[in-house]
Amino acid sequence: MFGEKFKRKYALSDKGISNVKKGAFWTVIVNLVVMSGMGILYYLMLNLMDSLTKGTALNFALLFIISTLVFIALSFITHLQQYRATYGLVYREVSANRLMEIYDTPLAKGESKFTPNGHNVVFENVSFAYDNEQVLKDVSFTAKEGEVTALVGPSGSGKSTCARLAARLWDNDFGKISVGGVDISTVEPETLLRDYSMVFQDVTLFDDTVLENIRIGKKTASDEEVKEAAKAANCDEFIEKLPKGYNTPIGENGAKLSGGERQRISIARALLKNAPIVLLDEATASLDVENETKVQGALSKLLKNKTVLVIAHRMRTVQAADKIVVLENGMVAEEGSPKELMQKENGIFKKMTKLQTQSQSWSV
Ligand SMILES: Nc1ncnc2c1ncn2[C@@H]1O[C@H](COP(=O)(O)OP(=O)(O)O)[C@@H](O)[C@H]1O
Ligand SMILES: [Mg+2]
Repeated sequence: MFGEKFKRKYALSDKGISNVKKGAFWTVIVNLVVMSGMGILYYLMLNLMDSLTKGTALNFALLFIISTLVFIALSFITHLQQYRATYGLVYREVSANRLMEIYDTPLAKGESKFTPNGHNVVFENVSFAYDNEQVLKDVSFTAKEGEVTALVGPSGSGKSTCARLAARLWDNDFGKISVGGVDISTVEPETLLRDYSMVFQDVTLFDDTVLENIRIGKKTASDEEVKEAAKAANCDEFIEKLPKGYNTPIGENGAKLSGGERQRISIARALLKNAPIVLLDEATASLDVENETKVQGALSKLLKNKTVLVIAHRMRTVQAADKIVVLENGMVAEEGSPKELMQKENGIFKKMTKLQTQSQSWSV
């Protein structure tokens, strides 16, 4: 009943179609029962009033059939809209590969050819507002290929926004963001995202098996490759405990998994994809120290020779970065190597590091 074109247009997978159909089916059944009940009641009342002619009965039946058909159509559309609201958009952040399958028209326009000269990510006087409030103001910095650039700063200072803009999940209002000299606003998001591995805080998973959720990182990966990545991200330990192992469905947006488990799945995806630009937004934030240490090993392999933009709230992670960019109120407040910034009198980075070292020794 639903062809490929329809599925693409509405960003639906086979699973999605079946969910929409199921939802619509039950709404229709419940309402049919209620409506039939009312119909019978109406009929009895008319009968009682002794005013039921053949004509009105026919009219009534016709009205009933038409309204039922309209109702079924409306119910299907409602479920489709709901499904899209939950699942349609998340595709955008997760996978360029998957995206290509789903949309036949790009969400934002641009060239489908992307031939950057290397993968330096450069922000030049970038300003951005979600609504009216300016979130980033005149932000400039370079994340060099082969280096780890860390964005730090108080909560709400605009770090995650920078990461999203760097992947063109939104377009900046002013200034320019380029990759290897190419202005990313000229590149189709699907094409652009092929060069990015992203691990964000709000991990998006699909109502599919563990295996397929990791394979999103690289659609052509064999089961063995997927499992290897899972192992490196320290996933296999919890996956093996699931009822069907790798073939266990994980529920809507991974409802059956803990935050740390979801995060490890998204790290496995990134490892599998192995793209030249890596964006990590508090990628290990929901892991306990033991798991974090294990995953760090795999991450450091992933980060070799890539352009890495990392947002981490644990200063310990950030001390190993090549460059630190401190954001405050949406502006670059400090920039330099960790060593340089630690020598700065009254520096923000220095203060943040001190505070955390203290609180860590308190919590021990
Ligand atoms: N999707 C959004 N819509 C509207 N405002 C947002 C959105 N995401 C973040 N913001 C706002 O933008 C500012 C910067 O947020 P964010 O980039 O997430 O900061 P950080 O990652 O440094 O904590 C905050 O004031 C936040 O409330
Ligand atoms: Mg953030």
